[in-house]
Amino acid sequence: MDNLVIEGGKRLTGEVTVSGAKNSVLPIMAATLLTDETCIIKGVPILRDTNTMLRILRSLGKGVEMSRDTVNITSTRNNKTFADYKLVSTMRASFCVLGPLLGKFKKAEVSLPGGCVIGIRPVDLHLKGIKALGADISIVSGYVVAKAKQLKGTTMYLGGICGSSVLATDNVMMAATLAKGKTVIESAACEPEVADLANFLIKMGAKIKGHGTPIIEIEGVKQLHGAIHNIIPDRIEAGTFIVAALITKGDILIKNVCHAHLGALIDKLQEAGAYITKTDSSVRVRLKRNLKPVNVTTLPYPGFPTDMQAQVMSLMSVTPGISLITEKIYPDRFMHVAELNRMGARIQREGAHAIVEGTKQLSGAPVMASDLRASASLVLAGLAAQGKTTVARIYHLERGYENLEQKFLTLGARIWRKKE
Ligand code: EPZ
Repeated sequence: MDNLVIEGGKRLTGEVTVSGAKNSVLPIMAATLLTDETCIIKGVPILRDTNTMLRILRSLGKGVEMSRDTVNITSTRNNKTFADYKLVSTMRASFCVLGPLLGKFKKAEVSLPGGCVIGIRPVDLHLKGIKALGADISIVSGYVVAKAKQLKGTTMYLGGICGSSVLATDNVMMAATLAKGKTVIESAACEPEVADLANFLIKMGAKIKGHGTPIIEIEGVKQLHGAIHNIIPDRIEAGTFIVAALITKGDILIKNVCHAHLGALIDKLQEAGAYITKTDSSVRVRLKRNLKPVNVTTLPYPGFPTDMQAQVMSLMSVTPGISLITEKIYPDRFMHVAELNRMGARIQREGAHAIVEGTKQLSGAPVMASDLRASASLVLAGLAAQGKTTVARIYHLERGYENLEQKFLTLGARIWRKKE
């Protein structure tokens, strides 16, 4: 297993280009199960998670061909409706094959996703939505077994205790495209990745309105056809590079960015004193004066993204003063706190809150990655720290960041891989 070694204290400067969005491409690849025709998806990031989804599609009888950032997904007419635990347990997003399989084949057997270090992540909303469309659902030996003679459109409320659910909205929206009649999803997730999926489905012939808002309407159609689609940029990768510029007191131009998708993050960092200028498809990030501490509360989109909480905590850990970080989506998503404290940060966790007392300087140390965004926060802390940081278990990073260390190298970071 590889570790990542970072020699900190280097100011990052230059240009970097953001890849396609992981959280958009995964459900979009699953949506190709809704047709027997060929789909071409462009701007696909090469990640552990995209590879996992491609393996799941192959196991369900799809033909898959990947060249550079384009994937061709064809039908082999050898369709299967069984998604194996071995694959699904390695990546929660695989659970979003349930909706398209049920929509297309009126039956599906999909393993329940495994546990997750960022918190309890039930799938009750997914099942509630699918049941509302008229499917019979049972849980057998850790598998969701779903079947329906015909799915029927209906109006449903899909809000949960922490608000809307991204993948539950995706799953129900995909199943509803081939249901009889009209479906209305209330309290739908508004994330840009949900809207990107809807735009792909519309290119396949689906009838969808209201995507990107809390009310999505889907008029069922008889069948869907193939389509060509370009994936939106990854706003969380862009956000990670914005923090990298600030935490190293650097100057970075981040390209292939849709800054409208980063509203809450940019607003919060400007409140802290960041100097961020926007052009059509890029943002430039610099510091004109020292940052000041800010309080952050994570919320469903368009609120502050939970997937940026850990990275901004690293930034606040080197911003003198007190900041309060409140995690409303995954109240236990604080695996990075103990590791940052190993580097000399002063962070105290109180339930779903973390009180960060900023310090002038972190010091390099051996740390352990626990999940995708926590590992990004440790790399950022390592870039700012004095001395050497070694981040272990970087396979977490490879799940969601394409060529991260290469991109940091081009910005002037001292970063390299070392076999454990
Ligand atoms: C998506 O996960 C993202 N993953 C996550 O990104 C992201 O953190 C999350 O949305 C929130 O923005 C992908 O898109 C592949 P949710 P998802 O269902 O859809 C509760 C990353 O780092 N809930 O919106 O699984 C749930 O427990 C990953 O890239 C229910 O209660 O998240 C959570 O508290 C990590 N019942 C809240 O809703 C359900 O049936 C939001 O979760 C489903 C969810």
